[in-house]
Parts: sequence; structure tokens; C-alpha cells
Amino acid sequence: MKIPGFNIGSIVVDPPLVVAPMEDVTNIAFRRIAKRIARPGLMFTEFVSAMAIHYGAVKTLSKMKIHPDERPLGIQIFGGEPSVMAETARIAEEMGADLIDINMGCWVPKVCKTGSGAALLKDPDLAENIVRAVVKSVKVPVSVKVRAGWDYSLFAAPDLAKRFQDAGAQMITLHARFAKQGFDGVADWNLLEQLRKSVQVPLIGNGDVKTPADALAMIRQTGVDGVMVGRAAISNPWALQRISAALQGEDIPAEPRIEDRIETALEHAKLLIAHECGTFEFQEAQAHPEYDQGELRAIRALRGQLPLYIKGVTGAGALRGRMTSVSTLADLEGILGEAALIYRESQLSTVS
Ligand SMILES: Cc1cc2nc3c(=O)[nH]c(=O)nc-3n(C[C@H](O)[C@H](O)[C@H](O)COP(=O)(O)O)c2cc1C
Repeated sequence: MKIPGFNIGSIVVDPPLVVAPMEDVTNIAFRRIAKRIARPGLMFTEFVSAMAIHYGAVKTLSKMKIHPDERPLGIQIFGGEPSVMAETARIAEEMGADLIDINMGCWVPKVCKTGSGAALLKDPDLAENIVRAVVKSVKVPVSVKVRAGWDYSLFAAPDLAKRFQDAGAQMITLHARFAKQGFDGVADWNLLEQLRKSVQVPLIGNGDVKTPADALAMIRQTGVDGVMVGRAAISNPWALQRISAALQGEDIPAEPRIEDRIETALEHAKLLIAHECGTFEFQEAQAHPEYDQGELRAIRALRGQLPLYIKGVTGAGALRGRMTSVSTLADLEGILGEAALIYRESQLSTVS
């Protein structure tokens, strides 16, 4: 049975599957692949520092670059100053964002000590002022991603969500953990069910959705309008594809073949190299005078993620280790070629 999509203003989110914002992960290369394979209803950029944009950081600005194929796309911003957040939201809108998301969920000290991210859960007045200032500064819809509260002493999300809706927010996402938890324990979906009662705009549930069954269970148990998926999708766009199919009432596709995983790992690397060289396409990047630097930056940035593409291939542990120190596309191609051989040999030995 198909789960209906929902609207945020004029944006149609169908299927109701949202790709989570993830720093260093949901860059343009990841998103283009996720869109092609899974067709999620909505995706987000990694978070963008409003203060860095304010001071003209070119690298941070490049995180807001959008390819036309990835729409609808939200740009997520973080910061603790209403005027600086409003200014960055305007720039994000100019860069083509369909939606501006405000981060109030990041718990890491480097963000919270600046009064941004989840630290705002402790200061409802400032949090509301930020939402109000951002809503006023742009024409596109604004959403807010929160945690349940700062710590277990207060489930702050219901009161905050009411304030944010009054301030004009058109969607709320809850990562169903408290900020102090980081990623510990399991997400408490009961919190989503409780928050549902305070939220009239679309509510997105987030936390520990990995499979089609998880996605359907979260929607049925909590009444959220959509699910947001993060970690399960890292180097695994097929996890999104399976969830997307389930939400559309379609048959769940089979697991990808090793050839698909290898091809996609290479595509991921090539698209990020293209981005680092200031283009959309790898062929154009190859002609760029600073191709080598772009290649190195992209491959380095993906070192932690590329090995996951060959996770589970028997005997490929050492190759995964080598992938964490690759520097060139040629090195990566060589290692992935070896992984394909190891896989084929393991299949032959199972058959014989
Ligand atoms: C590597 C990584 C980076 C993340 N970066 C962001 C971010 O930039 N903005 C944000 O709101 N949440 C960020 N998160 C949190 C995710 O968006 C999501 O809320 C969290 O992973 C829980 O969902 P999951 O259980 O599906 O992974 C990040 C999570 C991970 C694992």
C-alpha cells in the first residue's frame, strides 16, 4: 500500500522519504547518486555555517551548490545570531534552495559552544527569534530540525515546535533522542507520537530507520508524515531505494550486485572530483588545470566512506583498510578491481 506524500508550501514530498543532512556525507555527489537510484521525496545538504558564510568562506559557499536534478532540495544552515542566519538564508535561497532548514539538533561541542545547533533548545526565545528572522528573510518555506531536548530533564520539542509554527516554520523534523545522548541508545519513537499532538505542519520522524520495515513501522506507530534516513544511507543509496519502494507500495528491489556497488563508488568519487574542480561533470573536470588538487581533495574526503561500498565482501577486509589511505582515482579503481576479483573467486568456491 502506498503511503501518501505531503506538501510543504508548493513543494511536493512524494514519496515521504527525506534524506538526512549529514556533514561531509550529503554533498552534491552523494545527493546526485541518491536521487538517481532512490528518488527520495526530499534531500538536504550537510549543515552550512551561517557565520562562515558571513565571513565569506568560499569552501562553505560551495556546500550550497545545487544540481538541477536534485530537486526538491533543502539547504540546512546553523548559527546562533538571528541577523546572520537571516542573511545566510537569503544567500541559500539565491543559490536555489527549495527550502531552508535550521539546525537545532547538532550536539557536538564545537557547534554548541557557539550557541548554535542543539544549544538553542536551551534558549527558546532566541530559537524562536532565529526562526522568525529566517522566515521573514526568504520566500521559500523554512523548516527546523530538532532533538527532543537538551537532556532528559525536559522534553522541550513540543513547546518549541509550537513556537516555531507560530513563527512561520512549515515543517518540523525530530531526531528522537536528547542532545546529551549524542547517538547513544536507541531513538525513542514514543517522543514522535507525543510531538505529533503539538504539530500541525508536516512532522518528519528521524532516528534509527534502516529498512523498509522500520520506515513503515515509524509512520504507523507515530503518525509522522514522513521518515528521514541518515546513517543507513552512507555509501548505500540502495537502502534508500528499498525504503522509497516500500513507501510507494512497490516491490522491494534486490540488494545491489557487486558490479553496481563498484561502479557507484567510482561514480561517487568522480562526481566529487568534478565538484572540487568547480564543475558538474567529471569529463569537464579532467580538463581543469588544477585537476590533481581537486582529485586529492575529493578522494581524501571520501576515504572514510568508500570502504563501505564493499562492506560484506568476504576476504576484502584488507582492501577496505587500503581504501582508507587512497589519494587518486587510479588507486581506487585498482583496489575496487581487486575486490571484484576476490568476490568472483569467493562465489566460484561456494559453487564448486
Ligand atoms: C556523519 C553524520 C553527519 C551528520 N551531520 C548532520 C548535519 O550536518 N545536520 C544535521 O541536522 N544532522 C546531522 N547528522 C544527524 C543526522 O541528520 C540524523 O539526525 C541522525 O544520524 C539520526 O538519523 P539516523 O539514525 O537515520 O542516522 C549527522 C549524522 C551523521 C552520522
